[in-house]
Amino acid sequence: MPALVLLGAQWGDEGKGKATDLLGGSVDYVVRYQGGNNAGHTVVVGDQKYALHLLPSGILSPGCTPVIGNGVVVDPSVLLSELSGLNERGVDTSKLLLSGNAHIITPYNVTVDKVTERFLGKRKIGTTGRGIGPTYADKINRVGIRVQDLYDESILTQKVEAALDIKNQILTKLYNRRAMAVDQAVEELLGYADKLAPYVADTVLVINQALEEDKVVLFEGGQGTLLDIDHGTYPFVTSSNPTAGGACTGAGVGPTKISRVIGILKAYTTRVGAGPFPTELFDEDGEALRRIGGERGVTTGRDRRCGWFDAVIARYATRVNGLTDFFLTKLDVLTGWEQIPVCVAYEIDGKRVEELPYSQTDFHHAKPVYEMLPGWSEDISKAKSFTDLPKNAQAYVKALEEMSGAPISAIGVGPGRDETIEINSFL
Ligand code: IMP
Repeated sequence: MPALVLLGAQWGDEGKGKATDLLGGSVDYVVRYQGGNNAGHTVVVGDQKYALHLLPSGILSPGCTPVIGNGVVVDPSVLLSELSGLNERGVDTSKLLLSGNAHIITPYNVTVDKVTERFLGKRKIGTTGRGIGPTYADKINRVGIRVQDLYDESILTQKVEAALDIKNQILTKLYNRRAMAVDQAVEELLGYADKLAPYVADTVLVINQALEEDKVVLFEGGQGTLLDIDHGTYPFVTSSNPTAGGACTGAGVGPTKISRVIGILKAYTTRVGAGPFPTELFDEDGEALRRIGGERGVTTGRDRRCGWFDAVIARYATRVNGLTDFFLTKLDVLTGWEQIPVCVAYEIDGKRVEELPYSQTDFHHAKPVYEMLPGWSEDISKAKSFTDLPKNAQAYVKALEEMSGAPISAIGVGPGRDETIEINSFL
């Protein structure tokens, strides 16, 4: 029962799509377990580039069953348009399975997300504005709408009424907005029922049966470790658990079933939205990383904040996820620097700190302590094995591995499907 979890080890956008896709051919099921269409994977197949937001990247591998687990929040209009976009390009999406227990991002949740951010002003989180936070809030408040509710009009109406009861008070009295009509929301939601029906399944049962039959199941996290609601840089986080434990709750599998946890780690660091980021660069190096790395959000189109590699974060990701391996991505972006700074520790109030401080105040004050590693100028995009890399690139990878606490088992040297060096097989 090989069950692998693949997740972002930093603040998301580490290149998970490429890693998932690399494994796609040998994987039977790819399961998303949290997040929603706030995520964005770019997958390059041949000369075709696909930007996926909600669908698991396994949708592009013909033999693979893509699954949207119970822990995901689903905007039906986004899901349906993503599916039809792929169909138009000749991709067969009929194998998709959608958990009946997944929560639905309703139109009013999207409105609440945008209005709340506006209201927060300077204190805003910089959310993707897709209704993610309010939908998870409804789930926890027990006023959420689940996929299965679309198939019982009376229950759906009662639940929308319950959800809008308080929301309309807040919208009208606090935010000075118009109230939302229950029947309009119900009508819109019911309009999705038939179109989604072919995909709805008891995904917990399907996944566990697949594991019993020794199928290869890959659990794919959205966002990243530092955006985790419990283990990230709260409150500048998303509202779910991208960390490894989220795979168990968000897909309905026991921790004893997970055999491998792979952290995707960019060779430098990026972040979208607000919040602390110790190695962030505000100079021409940051600009160069953004330009060479194409660091612009797949979902929001926002420029990503860029900085040097942070080993403190990588060590933290190893710990909170129990990582067994790293997949190092975008090493090629660093080609051309004479020396590459790597953050090995922080200085906080004059003291050297080796591990991520649990105090938010301390983390906001953390200054990076850098070690300089020699760079390389050779094109590495054609490298097929570790020894094809220039000596300094090899040393950079080895240094990162030593600092981060888990073996680097694959290295991305370019955006294409085949531009990856495999060191240890994941299967
Ligand atoms: P939300 O997930 O839309 O609520 O946004 C919360 C925070 O997570 C914001 O800082 C977003 O920019 C960030 N975020 C959400 N999804 C992603 C992602 O896929 N990659 C990187 N950052 C993300």
